[in-house]
Amino acid sequence: MDKFLIKGPCKIKGQVSISGSKNAALPILASTILFDKTVIIENLPRVKDIDTMVNLLKSLGSKIQFLNNKKTVKITKNKKQKIFAPYSLVKTMRAGILVLGPMIAKYHKSVTSLPGGCLIGARPVNYHLNALKKFGMMYEIKKGYIHAISKGKLKGTNFKFSNISVGATENSITAACLAKGKTILKNCAIEPEIKNDLTNFLNKAGAKIKWTGKRTCQIIGVNSLKETKYSVMGDRIETGTFCVAATLAKGDLLIKNFNPKLIQTELNLLKKTGATIKTSKDEIHIKGPQKIKNISNIVTKEYPNSLATDLQAQFMVLLCKANGRSTITESIFENRFMHVAELKRLGAKIIIKDNKAIIEGNTEFLGAELMSSDLRASAALVLAAIVAKGQSVINRIYHLDRGYEKIENKLRKIGVDIKRLS
Ligand code: UD1
Repeated sequence: MDKFLIKGPCKIKGQVSISGSKNAALPILASTILFDKTVIIENLPRVKDIDTMVNLLKSLGSKIQFLNNKKTVKITKNKKQKIFAPYSLVKTMRAGILVLGPMIAKYHKSVTSLPGGCLIGARPVNYHLNALKKFGMMYEIKKGYIHAISKGKLKGTNFKFSNISVGATENSITAACLAKGKTILKNCAIEPEIKNDLTNFLNKAGAKIKWTGKRTCQIIGVNSLKETKYSVMGDRIETGTFCVAATLAKGDLLIKNFNPKLIQTELNLLKKTGATIKTSKDEIHIKGPQKIKNISNIVTKEYPNSLATDLQAQFMVLLCKANGRSTITESIFENRFMHVAELKRLGAKIIIKDNKAIIEGNTEFLGAELMSSDLRASAALVLAAIVAKGQSVINRIYHLDRGYEKIENKLRKIGVDIKRLS
């Protein structure tokens, strides 16, 4: 298993170019099941989760052709499409469930593995199933699989999500595109990956999706979608991770290829910690302060209300170096503090009370051997190792490879002493 060797503390200076968004590309790729015509998706990030989704599409019968160093994919449908999404693929990536909505909308049949839980929480799919049921999907759960059918075309519906869910919103929007008549979805997740990218992609292909309120989306079903070429937006979480890196390591970093407006909440928080930030259309120039200021009462929330849960671990590392006590409450996932025990091995002083982390500042991290537990927790360990004194070894970095494109190459270019040991 690959590991990272990082020798700190490192200075961060230079430029970094943001890759395509994993969380935008995944639902877009899943929604290609809705098409008969060829689809070309550009600016894919070269990360493991994208390979997994592409393999899932292949196993469902799509013909896949990679171009441009695997950053572009051309997807064509075979005559014989399958409707079975196996556990072996869905278990490694919960976003596998995103094929369910498109499959039932297009083929009126699907056998999709339940994704199961993961380290950050139980992560059920009841919101997905409740919404799809309203469209006329009937299902049974047998031996870990959702066996779903519909009597012909799905029917447009009015549905209000009881809780905001990224995946359930995506599954419902994609299902509604080929449903008969009008759908109105309320209390939707409005992450830019959905409200901007997935919506823009499907509308470009002829879907009729309109956001009529802050969290309300209207979809008029169409009979088919047309041949389309689309370029995926930049990765919001990768951008946020590099912004934290620069703030943490007294850096001076120009971050390219990302629209700063889409990460304004996090940039405002970083300004509060003392970062100097200048933005233009698709660039962020960020400089870290000499002394990082603490922040109390950060609560992770759904976009755009507060800090993204996917950046919680990275912000925690930053606050370990602040000039006083900070707190972060995790309100999205019940068990997303896996990084805390590892950060403590580097010298962090963090106490967890229920879903709140109390973080003492002024930590002098000392390099140590560490274990990655999940994707974003691993990014936090890398950040901590960058400012730790001495050598750190981070094990099980396959978690990082699920969502960050060649992070070691990008970090090395901006001054981090990092090596991958295979
Ligand atoms: C997506 C993101 C993930 C991010 C998360 C929250 C992708 C591929 N993944 O995950 O990186 O951390 O949004 O921003 O885009 N829930 C239920 N029942 C359901 C669905 C969700 O109880 O049917 C719960 C979850 O356990 C969680 C909360 O709702 O506590 C939010 O989850 P959701 O927004 O659905 O996250 P994902 O789509 O899985």
